[in-house]
Amino acid sequence: MEQRAIYDLRYCGDGYDARSAVRVLTAEAVALDRAVGRALSSLSGQGPVTLFDFGYGTGRVTNEFLVEFPRTFADAGRDLRVIAYDVSAQGLRKAARSLADDHGFHLGDLVFSDAAVEGYVAGSAGREDGGTRVSVTFVHGSEGEGSDAVQKLILRANDDVPVMVTTSWYSAIAHMPGAEVRASFFRMLSEVTDPRGELLVAPSVSGDLPELQEFWTKKRLAGEAGGLPIEMDGDVIYRTELEQDNYCHVFGPDLWELLEAVTQPGQHAWLEAIRLPDEEFRSRAEEQDNYRRLRAFNQEVGRRRWTADDYRRVHTAAAIRSGSPAAAGD
Ligand SMILES: C[S@@+](CC[C@H](N)C(=O)[O-])C[C@H]1O[C@@H](n2cnc3c(N)ncnc32)[C@H](O)[C@@H]1O
Repeated sequence: MEQRAIYDLRYCGDGYDARSAVRVLTAEAVALDRAVGRALSSLSGQGPVTLFDFGYGTGRVTNEFLVEFPRTFADAGRDLRVIAYDVSAQGLRKAARSLADDHGFHLGDLVFSDAAVEGYVAGSAGREDGGTRVSVTFVHGSEGEGSDAVQKLILRANDDVPVMVTTSWYSAIAHMPGAEVRASFFRMLSEVTDPRGELLVAPSVSGDLPELQEFWTKKRLAGEAGGLPIEMDGDVIYRTELEQDNYCHVFGPDLWELLEAVTQPGQHAWLEAIRLPDEEFRSRAEEQDNYRRLRAFNQEVGRRRWTADDYRRVHTAAAIRSGSPAAAGD
């Protein structure tokens, strides 16, 4: 179940990206704008805003954000540098093509080595928009490498300084078997991020795939999961739209444990629902209905620690660590 092979194939077609009528959820866009807004208040300066997206895929959330950045954050008067990291060269290529064809980005020499055993910087894309420069550096990773190697690669891609904002949408961390491995990558995401900046990791949680979770827990307890990476509650094998078997860890209270472990005194940590467990959205109206209910959920739980039942009421959650106190709207 090599993720590179699975996602290279998924990104060849449109099935993965077109599974929902709504490409970027309102809650994702709002959470990202708020995180960047907080980072701008706590990390003033002249240099570019720097954002690292781990498991960027085709840039589903990040590209919409970066295209609008010059207008959304016009007052900040700063450039934007995105570091787009993924193990799928196919996803990165597709994203680069879309930035060039749909948004006029200039592509430098992008050189991909699809089967590389070490991660490398493939090249970048950029454009000027109303005096703001937006650039995207594409980093092709190899899942054979541990978190230390990825950390070095990302810091090198960012001139050896930590980034202001790290995101991971539909997080790649969920595709890593083994609680220890996930913890080491979560720590790495924290370590490449300026402590005054923002870390936002959004994986699926207990309300996603409930039947499959039950199925695989029963199999594990009956000793029938031999040879498969099914080690704890939340570990599942699911079928993709291309009939590939893929591993995913659906998070529960272990998401909070990962976040708490990387939160220092003076930083703020909380969970936020990003999607409630409905079917894939067939229209913006369905997504908006989900968004309305999830805002009520977020208000109800506030900043308290989520119970196991809270996780079951949510499909995707963002684990957020912020270097600045949350703003009133958060
Ligand atoms: C569910 S997709 C999410 C993609 C994108 N962030 C989005 O929201 O649409 C998970 C992504 O994680 C990537 N991935 C899987 N394992 C990875 C790893 N070890 N390191 C980096 N990316 C990985 C996959 O290639 C895929 O693009």
